[in-house]
Amino acid sequence: MRYANLPLRDREAVAPAKTADFSRLAHIYRWLEWCSFGPVLWHCRCTFLAEMKSGRSALIIGDGDGRFTARLLVENPQITVEAVDSSESMLRQLMQTAGRNVDRVRVQLADARQLNLAPRNFDLVATHFFLDCLTTVEVEDLAMRLRGIMPHDAAWVVSEFAVPDNWYGRLIARPLVTALYIAFGFLTGLSIRQLPAHREALQRAGFTLAKQRTWLGGLLVSELWQPRPAQNFGHLQRYPSQRGALSRSYCSCVSCSHTPPRPISSP
Ligand SMILES: C[S@@+](CC[C@H](N)C(=O)[O-])C[C@H]1O[C@@H](n2cnc3c(N)ncnc32)[C@H](O)[C@@H]1O
Repeated sequence: MRYANLPLRDREAVAPAKTADFSRLAHIYRWLEWCSFGPVLWHCRCTFLAEMKSGRSALIIGDGDGRFTARLLVENPQITVEAVDSSESMLRQLMQTAGRNVDRVRVQLADARQLNLAPRNFDLVATHFFLDCLTTVEVEDLAMRLRGIMPHDAAWVVSEFAVPDNWYGRLIARPLVTALYIAFGFLTGLSIRQLPAHREALQRAGFTLAKQRTWLGGLLVSELWQPRPAQNFGHLQRYPSQRGALSRSYCSCVSCSHTPPRPISSP
């Protein structure tokens, strides 16, 4: 079979990994989170809530049990939310959590990697601890499609784990992230084992990091990205793989996001 001879990038494109199934965690997800990280993940998700109060139409991908969606609906009474998740149980939980604001939510059971982003405009996109379920190539592919349906003043809020490029990253953050991947691999079938280089992927897809905040010494990041004007991302290239990209992608200052992405040689 020729498949095995294809470069990693092409193999991912031909056969995306099986979608992880988070359904059995739907009812206990918040308690798992609370027991492991206390309130920090929640603070991370809500970092840029103030910036989300004027949006009208949000796309929230992989929001799981919907706690963030519910909070957004309360904070912004005009907004309508399209919530996409590959787990039916999570979407059911999300609708329940939305409570009396559920009429402003439309759910879509779908794999975000194959999401049909019909010509719709979203002025807000949120992905909290979701991009880490994808490879770098998949993140970039999603970002490029999102770039096409987001107006120039839209925002994409990202919450993610990260591994700082220092002793803390090597000794604490990386082993912790590896342990989390092993646990989620066991519980959900998630086959990803390392964080995607989501920053590089988003930059390449035409987004600019506008704001960021780090938590727990850089183990967690909250970021607000905005589309760059179209003429500034004509250099787009496919990002070849996520090998070793994480530590390079991590940086603690916002200004470094304005550095033009380095050309990538073939894998
Ligand atoms: C780690 S949980 C994060 C949930 C929530 N956003 C949070 O902040 O805790 C990942 C969520 O993404 C969903 N998910 C994973 N892979 C997906 C995919 N390929 N397409 C759509 N949803 C996916 C899972 O069902 C789950 O609800």
